[in-house]
Amino acid sequence: MDRALQTEIARRLFAHMAARTTDLAPREMYQPAESYIDPAQATREREKIFRKLPSIVCHESELANPHDYVTADIVGVPVVAVRQPDGTVRAFTNVCRHRGSRLVTAERGNARQFVCPFHAWTYGTDGTLRNIAYPDGFCGVDRGDHSLVRLPCEVRHGLVWVTPVADGALDLDDHLGPELDRELAGWRLVRAVYERSENFDLPINWKLVVDGFMEDYHLCVLHKSTIGPYMMANLHEYSAFRSHSRLVASRASLAKLAEHDPETVDLLPSAIFIYALFPGQILVWQADHFELWTIRPHATDALRATVSARLLAPTAASRETERPLWDRNWKILMDTVQAEDWVAARDIQDGIAGGGQSHFVFGRNEPALQHFHREVARATAA
Ligand code: FES
Ligand SMILES: [Fe+2]
Repeated sequence: MDRALQTEIARRLFAHMAARTTDLAPREMYQPAESYIDPAQATREREKIFRKLPSIVCHESELANPHDYVTADIVGVPVVAVRQPDGTVRAFTNVCRHRGSRLVTAERGNARQFVCPFHAWTYGTDGTLRNIAYPDGFCGVDRGDHSLVRLPCEVRHGLVWVTPVADGALDLDDHLGPELDRELAGWRLVRAVYERSENFDLPINWKLVVDGFMEDYHLCVLHKSTIGPYMMANLHEYSAFRSHSRLVASRASLAKLAEHDPETVDLLPSAIFIYALFPGQILVWQADHFELWTIRPHATDALRATVSARLLAPTAASRETERPLWDRNWKILMDTVQAEDWVAARDIQDGIAGGGQSHFVFGRNEPALQHFHREVARATAA
């Protein structure tokens, strides 16, 4: 990360620590509880947010070799991203042009061609229709018109971004804005390497899953027996970048750094940098590696989310040396989110469905949470 930015954040955190303050929003915010379970709102979020904006499908190291592919679902659109022999990455709807079967069923792999499991129509990894089984049945079909449907796709900061609509837009300059674009470049994610991932189909609205990353207020309470003792609650730095945000939460070890010079101090082992990349991506710097979360609504069900978690090693060398440590820490993380964050989220959702509450209160000490929900409201109202 850029030295000047690290210095600036260190100054702010140290000042907050001395004054027992934190970055605050100007006022509290009241969020209608219904917004988490309303099917009409869920439809608006799918249509006006997820089908319009770029989503991150994978890290480009997952497509290291020609014909490597990764599949994903973006609000019901099956997507396959494939490394081309010329080094570029293309994305297609992962749907056979014959009768719509899911073409590639594996999560990831390498294939010279994709053969549909239904009737064996065969496509090149460039998306072209190569072969129709029993061609006499389709002698009038123009093969050139039946390539896989190509989706807007761009690789930036080592991440593969896709808009899941064929004629959709993908303008990362506009989406990220120059400031966040520069800041992400400073993390040198292009050098990072995919290490592991897990996928989850959760019975929880996607926003409740995102909310778990959007504040440090709960860390020492909900997680008091797991990660809480290693954290300081309510000591954070917050910045917004268009619809995105950065929340820097403090580890307990930050207290020992406070007497150091902010100009030279190394914050990276003692802070957690949480970038909320709107709408549903959370990029986290976790002391010695990146976590990349993708959190998306289910195609039809307002109360389900499709979630994936990736561990990205900062460099290829670290992937080998740090793996035993990550084995342990990844397990703690996965246990914590499943047994604590998502149990709490499910309880909240059940409470909303029971009709017991009209609204939630987002505190001044939860500025990233406020920003996220304001952006969802703005995008769905448009
Ligand atoms: S649906 Fe793919 S070959 Fe028939
Ligand atoms: Fe949590």
